[in-house]
Amino acid sequence: MAQIIDGKLISSQIKSELADDVKILKAQGVHICLCVIQVGNDPASSVYVKNKKKGCELIGIDSESYELPEETTEEELLDLIDRLNNDDRITGILVQLPLPKHINEDAVIEKISPLKDVDGFNPISVGNLCIGKEGFVSCTPAGIIELLKRSNIEIAGKECVVLGRSNIVGKPMSLLMLRENATVTIAHSKTKDLKEVCKRADILIVAIGKSRFITSEYVKEGAVVIDVGINRGADGKLCGDVDYDDVFDKCSFITPVPGGVGPMTIAMLLKNCVIAVD
Ligand code: GUN
Repeated sequence: MAQIIDGKLISSQIKSELADDVKILKAQGVHICLCVIQVGNDPASSVYVKNKKKGCELIGIDSESYELPEETTEEELLDLIDRLNNDDRITGILVQLPLPKHINEDAVIEKISPLKDVDGFNPISVGNLCIGKEGFVSCTPAGIIELLKRSNIEIAGKECVVLGRSNIVGKPMSLLMLRENATVTIAHSKTKDLKEVCKRADILIVAIGKSRFITSEYVKEGAVVIDVGINRGADGKLCGDVDYDDVFDKCSFITPVPGGVGPMTIAMLLKNCVIAVD
């Protein structure tokens, strides 16, 4: 039977630690302000943006937001980022993804100053992570490392399989596990013998966006299973990429959906906002 990793609880602990840090910084006259930009009105993005602003309020930092119309041009968005890069009041910049199709996401991400890139998506931030230099790290993978460490799960020397190779989760996740001295395999949709590859994992991290895809057949007895997915199952309920009920008895630790990895993303974004003024 697995121990449940409570992401809600751990994220609350991190936010409370950050609120203490912010108090000290404020007393020293340090000002923190996150600027969040949303283009268009994708309902899921609106919820994420609202929660990010609420998170800022909770730990005592300022936030500003731009809710721009769907028709905003790439040039207008790049100009706004340019102004924010040069505005000393703004210490962190986040552009909510996805952007409308007519805007090149890569150009927008590259425009954000690496000094204010609290999402950790800028190629300079990714490059720093790759060569082991300090810099902002993508929030969801950074949150998973915190979940593992705060649950006293050893990483060094462990076989880790990361299922998924996105720029936001899979790739930075693999680099972070490597930094923690795990032996890392990145598996993806073209991987042969996926079940056998996943079964090698002491720590299996799943980010493929397929409802309840990982069943007990993919999991080694006693493995740690981290589920990054948030999907709406055929029954209408929120579910992860892992078939939670099916793997529960086989693993040693598991993250639930909701309440596992999800709450960590905002906690780590807030941590990056604090790091930005260090
Ligand atoms: N869209 C989905 N997740 C994220 C995230 O972590 N950051 C941004 N900027 N957009 C997202």
